[in-house]
Amino acid sequence: MSINVALDGPSGAGKSTIAKMAAARLGFVYVDTGAMYRTIAYYVIKEGIGVDDPEAVKAALSDIKIELKNEGTQQVFLNGDNVSDLIRTPEISMGASKVSAIPEVRAFLLGLQKDIAATNDIIMDGRDIGTVVLPDAQVKIFLTASAEERANRRFKELQEKGDPSTYEEVLADINQRDYNDTHRDIAPLKQADDAVLVDSSALTLEQTAEEIVKVITEKTAKKKERKPRELMPVRPITKAHKYSPVKLVFYTLLRVIVLGLYHIFYDIHFEGTQNVPKDGGNVFASNHRSYQDPVFIALHTRTPLSYMAKEELFQQNILFTGLIKFFGAFPVSRGKGDTAVIDTSIEKLEKGRNLVIFPEGTRSKDGKVGPGKTGVALIAAVAQTKIVPVGIIFEGKLKFRRKVTVRYGTPLMPADIGVSGTDPRSLKKLKLKIMEEITNLVEQNVN
Ligand code: DC
Repeated sequence: MSINVALDGPSGAGKSTIAKMAAARLGFVYVDTGAMYRTIAYYVIKEGIGVDDPEAVKAALSDIKIELKNEGTQQVFLNGDNVSDLIRTPEISMGASKVSAIPEVRAFLLGLQKDIAATNDIIMDGRDIGTVVLPDAQVKIFLTASAEERANRRFKELQEKGDPSTYEEVLADINQRDYNDTHRDIAPLKQADDAVLVDSSALTLEQTAEEIVKVITEKTAKKKERKPRELMPVRPITKAHKYSPVKLVFYTLLRVIVLGLYHIFYDIHFEGTQNVPKDGGNVFASNHRSYQDPVFIALHTRTPLSYMAKEELFQQNILFTGLIKFFGAFPVSRGKGDTAVIDTSIEKLEKGRNLVIFPEGTRSKDGKVGPGKTGVALIAAVAQTKIVPVGIIFEGKLKFRRKVTVRYGTPLMPADIGVSGTDPRSLKKLKLKIMEEITNLVEQNVN
């Protein structure tokens, strides 16, 4: 839809100059409707038809074709002839004021004016643009100035053109046209209820143009439709799930065997194991150093855990995919704001799984803890469950007999730091707290 700016106001308020300046700055088409009335007045005067003879003026309309063309500046054509300069005399001004009171003249121009506005971003100036021609214009401005100030400006203009009119004549003329324009029965000059009033009496042209551009820019600035993002509802997990003793025995057996193997393979140390909750349904938030990290963390959790693994890992061979799934991996597509993954995570927690999350998203090569993403906080806040921070520390690459330290920190409940919802501020607070805890664990010197 095109943007329509209706600029109305009395004669001599500077509408056309200002509208031209504003249109140029905003890249809009300037439409001077006064020029249209002037052209009709010019025609009837040229043809010797009295401007005070409405019947004769009405009859002449069928012989008139008006076109506005943009040739650098807007030019007005009457039956193919450029009359732009010829319509700017005091005689034509007064004539235009008179013919404009004839309803048929207004109706004759209305269609032309509406057509131009429908297909262009325009600033249209006139008297009745905001009230009659474009009642739905997005911006309506009523530009005015005192009669004396308007007369003063017009007088100077006419003097520059060598016109002999005196100031008193110009002022009388302005007063007369104001009277005509505001007292005619049809479409009188009137400020639309929803128009912004700009009084230019004490403003320079530049200041006025600036003010008008400001009004237009403010009114047309597309209000970004920022729907507040719907917050994920908090659904505290019940921790009702109980593993069957057989499963737990099997899991513990497996865990102890793997633990033994890891002690052979690596110089592995565990610290803070007393911090590991005995139940399931907890979030383990760890720094990420290697693909073994989920196993390192699992070696001291008493119930099985799940962890998010990047989608690509599930596109490997069936054996590998089967193995990581068996050990609790489930896919996440990175960088896609995967909300389904949040639901899957909550489901896992509800089923009593511990959930390992690497908030940094990727492995850190140098062991430094990078910035975390908010997902971890969102999951913990939705589930309102314990977060166990974990630090995994080793130097260089993981290899045979490499010293590895796995440090479990003190568990933290989101509510402990006042996080009971999923609003962005709460999530950020929780995420920062989690990252701080992980960093503290990683940066403690390994003895
Ligand atoms: O803006 P202007 O001075 O060029 O206008 C010439 C005359 O035309 C003015 O006296 C009133 C009339 N006019 C009108 O009645 N409605 C318009 N939309 C524009 C001008």
